[in-house]
Amino acid sequence: MNGKFITIEGGEGSGKSTQVKLLASYLQTKGIDVLTTKEPGGTPEGKVLRELLVTGDKDKFDAITECLLYYADRRNHLTKLVWPSMQEGKWVISDRFADSTEAYQYYGYNKRVDYETLENMYKIVAGDFKPDLTIILDIDPKVGMQRSFAKAQEMKVKELRFESRQLEFHQNLRQGFLDIAKREPKRCVVLNADKDIETLHREIVEVVQSRLGV
Ligand code: TMP
Repeated sequence: MNGKFITIEGGEGSGKSTQVKLLASYLQTKGIDVLTTKEPGGTPEGKVLRELLVTGDKDKFDAITECLLYYADRRNHLTKLVWPSMQEGKWVISDRFADSTEAYQYYGYNKRVDYETLENMYKIVAGDFKPDLTIILDIDPKVGMQRSFAKAQEMKVKELRFESRQLEFHQNLRQGFLDIAKREPKRCVVLNADKDIETLHREIVEVVQSRLGV
């Protein structure tokens, strides 16, 4: 692969999408060809899966079905968009990737899915491929959920399937992201996201500069 793959992860309302846009603009000023995308829903087919996954009754899928749907979206995303773009030399920034499945479907659901099953799904879908850098935006779920509900109201979106879960679910998945970062310190950096947009952006830029030599 000629390009790089950066993933931005975090709980609800951590400001990922804003930071993805700001980081892309910064990298473009450095002459880097950038593609921004997201999971679920980075491709036209993925948008259909996203609709299924983020709207409606929170209990409509069992945990394995939900993982398979996220991984189906991921496989399509990688093969149709991420890998071809990287081959062309683009740097791809994705708003969420596989760490979200581990955080939400494994930690969030209190380890209802067997970890090995999840690892196997990853291998089938992505093989040895891993992000070059993962930035985890950490925020107290109480603050994040407030932001998320406010945004949903403002934009009149109904993608609240996960927001409708109890606080405990969000606390668990926050811990999940922190555990992943501890396990893979070379790939992951955790930043406190409870601060203004510009300050957080500068911190992200510093991380990208030091980790990827921009
Ligand atoms: P978004 O609102 O950040 O775009 O993400 C959509 C929702 O999907 C969000 O509530 C988190 C959830 N999600 C998972 O539960 N597992 C996953 O693997 C991914 C990518 C997202």
